[in-house]
Amino acid sequence: MSKEKNILKNLAIIMDGNGRWAKERGLVRTKGHEQGANITRDITQYCAEHETIETVTFYAFSTENWKRPKYEVTFLMKLLDSWLKNELQTYHKFGAKFETVGNIEGFSPKLQETIAYIKKETAHHSNVTQILALNYGSREEIAKAANRLAKRGEEINEESLGTELQTPYIDLDLMIRTSGEQRLSNYLLWQNSYSEFFFTPTLWPDFTPRELEDIIDQYVNRNRRFGGL
Ligand code: IPE
Ligand code: IPE
Ligand code: MG
Repeated sequence: MSKEKNILKNLAIIMDGNGRWAKERGLVRTKGHEQGANITRDITQYCAEHETIETVTFYAFSTENWKRPKYEVTFLMKLLDSWLKNELQTYHKFGAKFETVGNIEGFSPKLQETIAYIKKETAHHSNVTQILALNYGSREEIAKAANRLAKRGEEINEESLGTELQTPYIDLDLMIRTSGEQRLSNYLLWQNSYSEFFFTPTLWPDFTPRELEDIIDQYVNRNRRFGGL
């Protein structure tokens, strides 16, 4: 009897390698971020059209990324603002709902307004939920959740903490990191407990729906045991 295939509901992606992609071409790093943003759109479309994918969470800006040179941080903030505004039509086209995880209060009021607006306008879509991790750090997410429970005098256990996290789900199925780096960089530590990991050397601006499909084909046949036999 053949083994049942794994179903893919919750996908997370660490979009890495934008800077190296640009450098290889003799371009400024920010060009890599621009091209990377286009890829995020293509992958979201793929996920919206995929039968079983419910959420795709992209790592767009970590709590540690503030350490980068000021011009790059400023560029990323501006890119995010203009990209989101421009993206509204594609969220509608793909039937994609936009959500975020991370501390967006750390952003400018203008950017926060854009984020809130796009969330409101896309809240009714149901083909896929695209979650951007923005000013996100997993340790911070967990610590803040525990703190909220403690302040309310509630017991801290796996269930209460898991549901108190900002992310609207508990278990990731598949985690992909591009650019050859093999680490989590403070990304969704709790949610990745039993996910399947894939690392590809492809730099994010070169990543394609076709490569995602290849990874998913391998994922569905992996042997997920969850500690059992
Ligand atoms: C990922 O690409 C995008 C962000 C972190 C915003 P990088 O900017 O980290 O690209 P590399 O890793 O320097 O090539
Ligand atoms: C992780 O990539 C963050 C994002 C992709 C947004 P980094 O490029 O910042 O991670 P490190 O520094 O290589 O671990
Ligand atoms: Mg990087």
